[in-house]
Amino acid sequence: MKWTDQEASLPLGKHDGFEKFHHEYEAAMRKVNAKVEILASDFEVRNDYSPIHHIEKRLKTAESIQEKLERLECEVSIPSARENIKDIAGLRIICNFIEDVYQVADMLTAQDDIELVTCKDYIKNPKDNGYRSLHLGLRVPVFLIDRKVTVPVELQIRTVAMDFWASLEHQLRYKQNNEGRISAKTNIELKACAEVSAKLDVQMQKIFDEVKK
Ligand code: GTP
Ligand code: MG
Repeated sequence: MKWTDQEASLPLGKHDGFEKFHHEYEAAMRKVNAKVEILASDFEVRNDYSPIHHIEKRLKTAESIQEKLERLECEVSIPSARENIKDIAGLRIICNFIEDVYQVADMLTAQDDIELVTCKDYIKNPKDNGYRSLHLGLRVPVFLIDRKVTVPVELQIRTVAMDFWASLEHQLRYKQNNEGRISAKTNIELKACAEVSAKLDVQMQKIFDEVKK
């Protein structure tokens, strides 16, 4: 019997089957986090400067996995979650400058145990609302007691300015008890802020490049 066959009838939630499944994603998240921390410390050691401002990570809970499966109109089960949800393990790397975003992305995807599956560049092609970030869908091997599993991890890489904007937009959208809707007027204002903030990123990069010379 394949491992996933055993899981087919398991619900999401607090039981051994779900905990084993969830642990794979937690381990993958820790593994990618360690890789990013090593890059940051190597930069510090060699250059006295790290392009990585900070790292955030989160693991989707059973409730959040269930909510997403229902939203996608997929079956609510562990095999369906494996198949349909690629952001159970999520990491966000906040960089100082735009070029740092691409440098860090290149360094990670060049590592021979990281497989790049998807790349959505919302910096070169921002979303209509002004959202900017580089989204990478990765797969990493994780060695468990008795087997190796390859686990998807979603990585978002963005600058401090992009992160500032996204946090504020997220708060407005989800925390204001307005069912994820923002008024048309606020949307226009937010988009204008995103443009100002993107210009700032370009200016700061220029200043940094001049100082480096
Ligand atoms: P999900 O089903 O939410 O994962 O969307 P997706 O598979 O279409 O991926 P997408 O690349 O659009 O975005 C995934 C994640 O990026 C979200 O969970 C957010 O963390 C972030 N994100 C995407 N768009 C926005 C946005 O407009 N505003 C903010 N604040 N975050 C966003
Ligand atoms: Mg998501």
